[in-house]
Amino acid sequence: MESDVQPAVRSNHVRIFDTTLRDGEQSPGASLNSAEKLEIARHLASLGVDIIEAGFPAASPDDLMAVRRIAEEVGKADGPIICGLARCVKNDIDKCWEAVQYAAKPRIHTFISTSDIHLKYQFNMTREQALQRARDMVRHARSLCADVEFSTMDAGRSEWAYVAQVCGVAIEEGATTINVPDTVGYMMPDEYGRMMAWVIENTPGGKNPNVIWSVHCHNDLGLATANTLAGINAGARQAEVTINGIGERAGNTALEEVVMAINTRRDFHKLETGIDTKQISRISRLVANYTGISIQPNKAIVGANAFAHEAGIHQDGQLKNRETYEIMTPESVGLSDSKLVLGKHSGRHAVKARLRDLGYPLADAELDEVFKRFKEVADKKKHITDADLQAIVSDQMQGPAEFYKLRGIQVTCGQLDMPTATLKMEGPDGKLYIEAAVGVGPVDAVYTAIDRIVKVPNKLLEFAVHAITEGVDAQGEVTVRICTQDGEYQTFGGHGSDPDIIVASGKAYLAALNRMLAAVGTADISPEGERAAVHLPGAD
Ligand code: KIV
Ligand code: ZN
Repeated sequence: MESDVQPAVRSNHVRIFDTTLRDGEQSPGASLNSAEKLEIARHLASLGVDIIEAGFPAASPDDLMAVRRIAEEVGKADGPIICGLARCVKNDIDKCWEAVQYAAKPRIHTFISTSDIHLKYQFNMTREQALQRARDMVRHARSLCADVEFSTMDAGRSEWAYVAQVCGVAIEEGATTINVPDTVGYMMPDEYGRMMAWVIENTPGGKNPNVIWSVHCHNDLGLATANTLAGINAGARQAEVTINGIGERAGNTALEEVVMAINTRRDFHKLETGIDTKQISRISRLVANYTGISIQPNKAIVGANAFAHEAGIHQDGQLKNRETYEIMTPESVGLSDSKLVLGKHSGRHAVKARLRDLGYPLADAELDEVFKRFKEVADKKKHITDADLQAIVSDQMQGPAEFYKLRGIQVTCGQLDMPTATLKMEGPDGKLYIEAAVGVGPVDAVYTAIDRIVKVPNKLLEFAVHAITEGVDAQGEVTVRICTQDGEYQTFGGHGSDPDIIVASGKAYLAALNRMLAAVGTADISPEGERAAVHLPGAD
């Protein structure tokens, strides 16, 4: 199957197809509500993605409604294509169309597996049957929608000639975007590049200039970005990616990595995307906060350490000339190197202006909330940096609907073995609740006191804390993930920041509980509900 084929001559524009809201949402624990999906979709449109895969409408009526809302509100004529996923099943395709038809530029994305292992064990189909199904379903999708994308799932472990045959049939039936996924992250970059080139060359109609080839890679071997770039350099002109690389198992290809690799090495790739890279940090933080999936500090482009220089020799070089150790600037992804530091004497105008420069043009009412919080933090922390400001905005503007509100935390802890928390909270009924609890550590005591008030059975899956800025007065940022205990194990994330990490921990847990309440409804709360196993690595 080896070949030396050269990629067909193509435009140098790579379409960015964002699937954060579909494949990304399939990450363990990343359940987003419809308002959060809409907010992320708005930011994706502003970021400049070409296509938003908004969900899998046949999965549930809620998913259908979420895709439909995005189609209606974000899928404007000057906005991105809004796409929904559908198996090669008539009902899936009909449901998909029901949701995406409201967009100015709707797309149906339908897929079938081409690997023998999937066909035999998952679909119980022969190759001939799958080929016929692809033909029938692409034809059906085209009868509804002018823009149809077709994917050969598990192409990475499929016979290349069969992939080309199925793609040829999809093109014949009118699909204009053909996606060749490495569904299980099995391929090597060189191999994936050769496969893309071979399939493009050998698919009947594959070199038709109206056909856009697409790459979709998973990161099981840590090669998703490398494979995506190899596929693009072999002729693909659409990359399927997610913000922060979230997705099934080890995730999907990270949008920010592909885009910055294309930008930073324009000399090598000679390609471009339509992404406004200065918005990358902001949307990365938004997705992390909403999904509760925190970003590893050394994650390329968006990790907390991505632009930090620790070693003396590096710092020395940096100070003499930034380019000694910096291949791209923090500003290019929206991190500011502003030396303008705000403090408790800064006025509303200064805060407003700084926020606007950081990409948060807040309305007056929103600014009121943020400014109030800014003053509280500035009372405790001398210098308020851009990172602090962003954390404040995330906390105030990007939290879930608050059924329960934290009104005060008092903790005593030390070495007397009785960490105790006293908590004041306002309930959905407007009443004030005060509870105290003892725990194995201060965070455990706070969480136990919260549980006594909120009474939602749940299990804490993950607790992570990190400092936003340097110094002992740094704000702590806490992310937690919890799951229901009703047998479905739905997962919810929460996020909180504060100069006091115990308060940040309380906020994060309450945010996750509020999200759970919004999804499962208060009716499911048992008065006896208790949090199960408490495991807070490193927190107490
Ligand atoms: O990984 C995959 O194969 C997919 C398809 C459904 C496109 O996500
Ligand atoms: Zn996938």
